[in-house]
Amino acid sequence: MYAAIVESTVPAGRIVGLDTAAAEQSVGVLLVLTHRNAERLPYLQADQRPPVDPVSGEQLRVLQDDRVLFRGQPIGVVVAATQAQAEHAAALVRVDYDLDPAPCTHFGPERGRPTSAAAQKAGRGPETRQGDPDTALAAAAHRVDHVYVQPREQHHAMEPHATVAHWHDGHLTLWDKTQWVGNVRDEIARVFGIPPGTVRVINPFVGGAFGSALRPWPHVALAALAARRTGRPVRLELTRRQLAQSVGFRPHTEQRVALGADTTGTLTAIIHEAIGQTSTYEEFAEGTLTVPQVTYASPNRRTSYRLVAMNTNTPCPMRGPGWATGLLAQEMAMDELAVELRMDPVQLRLRNYADHDPRNGRPWSSNALRECYRLGAQRMGWDTRDPRPARTRAGHDLVGLGMATALYHSNRYPTQASATLLADGTAVIASATSDMGPGTYTSISQVAADTLGLPLDRVRMELGDSDLPPAKEHGGSTTMASVGTAVHAACQALRAQLGDLARQQAGADVADGARSAAPVDLVAVLRRAGLTHVRADGHSEPGPEQQTHSSVGFGAVFAEVRVDADLGTVRVPRIIGAYDIGRVVNPTLAHSQVIGGMVGGLGMALLEQVDWDPHLGQVMNGNLAEYLLPVNADVQQLDAVFVPGEDITANPLGVKGVAELGLCGVAPAIANAVWHATGTRLRELPLTPEKVLPALPVGSFGG
Ligand code: MOS
Repeated sequence: MYAAIVESTVPAGRIVGLDTAAAEQSVGVLLVLTHRNAERLPYLQADQRPPVDPVSGEQLRVLQDDRVLFRGQPIGVVVAATQAQAEHAAALVRVDYDLDPAPCTHFGPERGRPTSAAAQKAGRGPETRQGDPDTALAAAAHRVDHVYVQPREQHHAMEPHATVAHWHDGHLTLWDKTQWVGNVRDEIARVFGIPPGTVRVINPFVGGAFGSALRPWPHVALAALAARRTGRPVRLELTRRQLAQSVGFRPHTEQRVALGADTTGTLTAIIHEAIGQTSTYEEFAEGTLTVPQVTYASPNRRTSYRLVAMNTNTPCPMRGPGWATGLLAQEMAMDELAVELRMDPVQLRLRNYADHDPRNGRPWSSNALRECYRLGAQRMGWDTRDPRPARTRAGHDLVGLGMATALYHSNRYPTQASATLLADGTAVIASATSDMGPGTYTSISQVAADTLGLPLDRVRMELGDSDLPPAKEHGGSTTMASVGTAVHAACQALRAQLGDLARQQAGADVADGARSAAPVDLVAVLRRAGLTHVRADGHSEPGPEQQTHSSVGFGAVFAEVRVDADLGTVRVPRIIGAYDIGRVVNPTLAHSQVIGGMVGGLGMALLEQVDWDPHLGQVMNGNLAEYLLPVNADVQQLDAVFVPGEDITANPLGVKGVAELGLCGVAPAIANAVWHATGTRLRELPLTPEKVLPALPVGSFGG
């Protein structure tokens, strides 16, 4: 059966009247479910919140009461024999509201309030302080102090969120778009108050996500609820418009960055104050402030985060969450400081290089940031850049070059995996992770093939099933460090088991060293032993390096822009990034991940913004016609180079995260290049023609 959601049409209030008669009598309809006839669900709370959920507040409970907290909230679900019948009937439901006279639909920075104790414990504000930054800023020889605005952005993965729910013999199977099958299983089990062992979540392919599928959204519970009531499998797919109000978003954020420096360009003060939006029912705070806390050395530093609670759905991580946002403001401010100092932007960053983590004095697990600046600048031809703005022209265009530092944390999560060698000579590796597009299947299979000494085409990976050995979120660019090391461990254990077998087969006289020395024909050992398969398990978890070192992926991004002198349109002929990501497991996939991130950064700089109407409290462009994303014609020369190396302090594979680092720093590099092209600093993204046009130098082309 097919389901369609009935959405609230007001931003805040209570439902006082519901007429479902027409919908119930509509052709093909099996069920119309609202808070009036839906069962009360336990919604048990987790002992420990999953790290991808907001740190405080309470998730939206579907059809449990008459409250409306945002426009587009699911307030009913219709189940019918076809999708068209369900959607038609959903449109027939009549709802009357008692309106909240003063909904919070306007992002007023003045309404920003400190984050909760829970968020503070998780390192999200409200304030960190080293030294006396305000006094140092006032006394600085050079200073900049500005506010940078980043609009709400939407993930808009190509494949929409969808769930099929099927109850059978007291068990629930969900086919669901998710980056974390284990999280969906556990949360839905708590929603219905049933043992997690009775829920299975299957998702072999994600279809893109960018962070929107890290947690189960209300429609998953809705599908399960409708399936339970009808006793039929139910399929619920969100429309493109529903995605814009259902599955999280990158929050609108306003950041004040004030930097003070002495006459040599050495930073003496860093002040970074961010205000971001959240919903009224959950507190989502981006990790924006890690950026000013770790990027540069400075004796005086203050960071703070405040939240504006609004009648909207809850934001969530989106590609490079927090880091991309913090870098946007910080790296534009650094560019402004370089102008103030009459100093080269790369030199300014080198001058303030942090040779250890400024938060805690720990050494980096590895850090080739200076090499990234050097390599990127060389590839871009940075030394030919005229530092004066609005001086370089090409035909009818103003030409600009800009750059920015890129950083993204490198973590690993506790993960389990299995490796099974079959008598037909193939190996199956398994872990309950996901592949939302970075190539998990391929790159993790490579690790297994290398460890087992098998050709890649003899290795098969299973993922996306909550019955597999548990893994945490396929997010935070942690999958290779987490799942890769667990699979590596499982394959080593498998080799050891087969090595033991081989020694038994050869007799006790084989030297112990043979275990790792001469390559053993693993399949031959298996066959001789008459076994159909041998399975070994492996696990990986963060080790003592977490207490002794800080692990971050680094990069330097360079962009060239061409600004049409009459139209104010910005084209980006080149983006070049140099990165330190430790060991590169698969150069093709890593390159692809990074240039994909660059496309995201291009969208952030020039195109992407959710149009929010504060009067209606409504997303106005919940579609792919008006929410602009870069298309092929926008994307020109993109290149990424990797500094050779491996980070064996971080994990046994020597890898750091790749994917999200690629989006970080791109938007500020482009914005800085637009300043260099035009001579005008634009501090509110995206840099659309109506903003760039007034910024153009008057008469620069003699009319
Ligand atoms: Mo990424 S925002 O952790 O999916």
